[in-house]
Amino acid sequence: MNAAVKVCLGIVIAVPLLAAKTYYEERGGMPVAQVPVVAVGPVGPGVFTPPQESQLPDNAFGELVREGRDIFINTQKNAAEFVGNGLNCSNCHLDQGRKADSAPLWGAYGMYPAYRKKNNQVNTFTERMQGCFEFSMNGKAPASDSHVMKALGTYAYWLATKAPVGEELPGRLYPVIPAPEKGFDLVKGKQIYAEQCAICHGAEGQGQRSAGTFVFPPLWGKDSYNWGAGMHRINTAAGFIKQNMPLGKGGSLTDDEAWHVAAWINSHERPQDPRLVEGSVEKTREKYHKGDGVNLYGEVVNGVTLGQGIN
Ligand code: HEC
Ligand code: HEC
Repeated sequence: MNAAVKVCLGIVIAVPLLAAKTYYEERGGMPVAQVPVVAVGPVGPGVFTPPQESQLPDNAFGELVREGRDIFINTQKNAAEFVGNGLNCSNCHLDQGRKADSAPLWGAYGMYPAYRKKNNQVNTFTERMQGCFEFSMNGKAPASDSHVMKALGTYAYWLATKAPVGEELPGRLYPVIPAPEKGFDLVKGKQIYAEQCAICHGAEGQGQRSAGTFVFPPLWGKDSYNWGAGMHRINTAAGFIKQNMPLGKGGSLTDDEAWHVAAWINSHERPQDPRLVEGSVEKTREKYHKGDGVNLYGEVVNGVTLGQGIN
């Protein structure tokens, strides 16, 4: 961790830093971005609690669960060949996939197989995770019967221990927050970003590295999620941001502010949607982005058509 990052963490999230220290010592130095964050959002009775790591059995099952966890929190290192950007699964599924309102794995596991409009078929849980490899991680998904997918699936299965099957649990996915009455405002979004986000994610959304590893994940540009990822929808990003950002201060932005800043992030170039139709942004917008929530793919912003993609 470099000095700038230390200072930044010290000021902005003093409480998680304490937890971070012991976590570091135990794990022998994991990037800051994988430190569990303080729980906000639904807690207490009625909200599902996943099992603790101390409850993991010391056998082959426990070993596979641990491998899955390690892939989830350090995908960069432990599944490198399947990742095409600078992200780890846990950058968007916080606290190792445990945190409510951050698409927790325990909320997901019992909801599959399920139909998805995105690929117009019933998806198994494995196929759902493969989608995040292809889009959120801008990579190539490991095969269904690969060790990586088995380990990740086993980790999610374990986090969902005793969770009801086929029941929408409170805290699943990201919350849906209402759009600003007058629509989103990129000028306001830019300002909120500069004041509250750039300190960690960088002035150009490029994230921050220490010794070659991202300690704060990139939000746009070549190292971020691609144009086909769920996070490129402004409504989806707004829900995540409202609940979880700035890190350690989730819930502090108003709904409108979360929308403005989500729109600002998603009005920048990122890797191309891998479903690109005949090399045409227009055709790809028509087929995949029109009607997929609120998004700027193929839209003209400040005279420039977005969705060109960058590598
Ligand atoms: C104190 C540092 C810090 C601040 C300030 C902060 N973030 Fe984050 N952000 C993080 C970290 C660290 C993660 C990854 C969390 C993890 O891995 O546990 C993250 C993850 C994200 C992600 C998902 C991952 C990605 O790369 O797409 C988004 C989107 C995001 N932040 C947006 C914002 C926005 C918008 C703001 C300002 C309102 C903000 N953040 C402020 C540290 C910060
Ligand atoms: C850039 C952010 C991002 C990253 C990185 C990411 N995901 Fe996701 N993931 C999402 C979003 C957004 C959704 C859909 C949430 C929604 O629609 O509200 C999602 C959904 C999921 C779901 C389904 C959740 C449910 O309740 O149905 C699973 C499972 C999942 N991701 C697994 C993974 C795995 C495994 C990885 C790493 C290989 C990963 N994700 C990386 C953003 C991300």
